Formats: sequence, structure tokens, C-alpha cells
Amino acid sequence: MIPTQVTLVEVGPRDGLQNEAQPVSAAHKIELVQRLQAAGLREIEAASFVSPKWVPQMASSAEVMAGIARREGVRYSVLTPNMKGLEGALAGRADEVVVFGAASEAFSQRNINCSIAESIERFRPVVAAAHAAGVKVRAAISCALGCPYQGEVTPDEVERVARLMKDIGVDHCGVADTIGVGTPRRAQAALERALRHFPLAEVSGHFHDTYGQALANIYACLELGVHTFDTSVAGLGGCPYAKGATGNVATEDVVFMLHGMGVATGIDLDALVDAGAYISGVLGRAPVSRAGKALLARRAAAAGA
Ligand code: HMG
Ligand code: MG
Repeated sequence: MIPTQVTLVEVGPRDGLQNEAQPVSAAHKIELVQRLQAAGLREIEAASFVSPKWVPQMASSAEVMAGIARREGVRYSVLTPNMKGLEGALAGRADEVVVFGAASEAFSQRNINCSIAESIERFRPVVAAAHAAGVKVRAAISCALGCPYQGEVTPDEVERVARLMKDIGVDHCGVADTIGVGTPRRAQAALERALRHFPLAEVSGHFHDTYGQALANIYACLELGVHTFDTSVAGLGGCPYAKGATGNVATEDVVFMLHGMGVATGIDLDALVDAGAYISGVLGRAPVSRAGKALLARRAAAAGA
């Protein structure tokens, strides 16, 4: 038995674009978010309030958050590594903030310049202040299935951080395969550890597709009953502190798989493919999504016939 309904958290505007070397204007980011919500996405990670010296592409986050024509029923989330980030998030009227830690000490140092223990102390006031403002808090646990610096990461290490996140009051736990090395049974083992501390509805999977395992990992997590996954339109993305890692699994591919299994997402695949083609056009390349490319080719063939 797998869930009959799945929520996809679209992370393309944030995870997808943060690693882009070429400038992407705030206007293009805003247009992308609006196309995604028009396609039926109800959870959109729209921006990131991090140091612009660390991640220059996200420097326009305040402008992006101010420019989106908000749609009722859509939750807009942003990354907040510390209180300064939270201030930006609240000023930008984010509905949800993401504190991002790691299951690996080495990655924590490289990504957010502190140890795991220090990160939890930084997140503690962020969680309290977000809750005081009525804002939900999601945690991301990076490198839950492997680390570019440390190598192997065990389920024990994932559980330790999940427990710490729970202790400081985080509402939701996202388990992230930052470098895409996870395989289905290992993905299940990592998410099972998060499920010891968070309810089923508050655990999600975030799978980068570097080794082509993401769809299989999502299917394995569906078998656990997990029904929330982060995905990135057109397969955009990567992390500036995980060199060589590709984007998240493409939203189009996940929607194609889920709809093919009779699982509802509320997403209009054709409109989603258009959003993927739009941002890929802005970036001057073809979408990475296999389903997106296939559907565009089918349309072109139909138009030519
Ligand atoms: P730090 O240098 O240790 O911070 O960086 P600091 O508190 O010492 O401050 C240094 C400077 O940064 C100061 O400015 C602060 O004002 C500024 P200065 O006085 O030098 O001009 N600063 C900020 N500016 C804007 N917004 C802020 C902020 N905080 C400090 N929030 C810090 C620590 C966390 C800020 C830094 O390491 C950072 O920004 N890291 C971001 C890394 C990042 O964004 N990585 C990618 C996102 S995570 C990801 O992609 C993984 C995920 O997708 C899941 C997965 O796949 O694994 C979520
Ligand atoms: Mg990521």
C-alpha cells in the first residue's frame, strides 16, 4: 500500500537556482514561482535568506518575496540559517522557514560555518521566534545518505540530528540526500530514523538525482507511507557546497510517475512542463527532466504532424 495523495514541495526557485553561475533576475524568479503556483504547486520554496557573500544568487530574495502575486492556499517557504535570516523571512512574509543542518560535521562546517551542535544553538531562537510569529519551521538534514567530505553517514547520525531538531521544536523534518548517493533501502533506513521523532505527515524526502536514484528512493519512501517530497522543476539545482552534485529530482518526472500510479498531486503536468521550459529557456538550456523533454517532444511532433 502506498499513499493515494502526495504533496510535492517545489524547491526549484531556491535549491534549483542557488547554484546558477549566471545571474537570474528577480523578475524571472518571480515569474517562475507564479507559473509553478498556476500549475498547482501548493508548497513553494521561493527564496533563501543567507549571506549574499556565500550564495550570491539568492541576494535578491527580499525582492522576490515582495514581488510574488500570492495565491491563497500556497505556502511560501524560505531558508533561514540564523536570526538575521529569520528577520528577512518575516519581512518577506514567508509562511514557513527552513533551518538547514547536516548529519555530517564536515558538511555543517563547509555549508554554514559551524558545528552541528553550534547550528542547533543558532536554530533554537529561530524556531522560537518563527513560532511566535505564527510561522511553521521545517528542518533539512543534509548529507543524510552520504557526505562529499566525510563519505559514509549512518542512520544513527541522521537520527541524532532529527532528535536535536525535534528537541528545539522544529515542526517538520526533511531528510536530504545532498549528493544523490542514496539507494532505496538506505533511503528507507534514513527516513525511518526521522519517523521515530516526527509523525508521518511531518517527514519528507529531498533527493538530489546525481546518481539517478531519486525516483527509486521516492518509491521506497512511499512504501513507508511518507507522502511529502521536495522536487525541482526541470531538475534544476545543486548545492554550492557539494560540488558535482546535480539538481533535485525533476518535479515533472515525479508527477509523471505518481499520476501513472494513480496517486494524486493536484498538479497539472502540462502547465508544469511549461514552467520547466520557461526557466530552462531563461537559463539557455534544455530541461533536465526526462518527462519534461519527452512531453515537449511529443507536443512538437503533434504540432508538426
Ligand atoms: P558566517 O560568516 O559564519 O556568519 O556565515 P556571521 O554571523 O559571522 O556573519 C558574517 C557576515 O554574514 C556578516 O556580514 C553578516 O551580517 C552576514 P558582514 O559584517 O561580513 O558584512 N550574514 C548574513 N547576511 C544575510 N543573511 C543572513 C546572514 N547571516 C550572516 N542570514 C552563514 C554563516 C550561515 C550566514 C553562512 O555560512 C551562509 O550564509 N551559508 C549559506 C549556505 C547555503 O545557503 N547553502 C546552500 C543552502 S543549503 C542546501 O542547499 C541543502 C538543502 O537543499 C538540503 C540538501 O540538499 O542537503 C537545503
Ligand atoms: Mg538540496
